[in-house]
Amino acid sequence: MIDLHCHILPGIDDGPKTVKESIAMAEEAVRQGITHILCTPHHNQRFSNEKSDVLVAVEDLQKELDRQSILLTLFEGQEVRISRNLIDEINSDKILFADVTDRYLLAELPTNNIPEYTESLFYELRQMGIVPIIVHPERNRGFQENPNLLLPYLNMGCLAQLTAPSIAGVYGKQIKKLSEELVQNRLVQMIASDAHSRKDRDFYMEKAYSIVEKKFGPTVIEEMDQVTRDIINGEQVYAKDFRPIV
Ligand SMILES: [Fe+2]
Repeated sequence: MIDLHCHILPGIDDGPKTVKESIAMAEEAVRQGITHILCTPHHNQRFSNEKSDVLVAVEDLQKELDRQSILLTLFEGQEVRISRNLIDEINSDKILFADVTDRYLLAELPTNNIPEYTESLFYELRQMGIVPIIVHPERNRGFQENPNLLLPYLNMGCLAQLTAPSIAGVYGKQIKKLSEELVQNRLVQMIASDAHSRKDRDFYMEKAYSIVEKKFGPTVIEEMDQVTRDIINGEQVYAKDFRPIV
């Protein structure tokens, strides 16, 4: 499995505080069958985590994993809280994408709403050839109230990423139910952990994949798995067969 959203880097956001905690997370990731992790510290939320700092942190942690013979490959990324000056930040090379071709951008919306400028911002990004990946829509109040608000974004070529613990039931029955509806209606194209620690925000990837496989069949999981590979390789990915929840 490839995990495209994980706060595993030590001491730079609300993830692990020490290298030891990062290693414990890495060991659990490997146990769950994860082979590659996109390290996505918060950017523009409570933490800034500049591109240059993330690159160094990823290199340091990868060296430690290699030293301890833990078979996990790290890639550098960011979970970018959207803002009106995102385009300026991209143009001044401050943003890390999910892939080396700078196509896929992990975009986080605020928890309580969908800002009114989101659609025009994403449209502008699409014009630049960038594909925003909306992370954990199931935890945003706007999409919770009306998940079909994802449709215009998918129609414009954006993607959406479900968080594994949401479908595993960690955030309660309502979010689990919504997560299942999102998968059933193909409104999300991939699952990622958004893991922060072993203690309270663990991976749940094994459990989430198994739930999806049991409920929706192995093809859905195979497709999601392929999407994560294509994203990391910078290949074209389109959301397909998505439909409104009725
Ligand atoms: Fe996150």
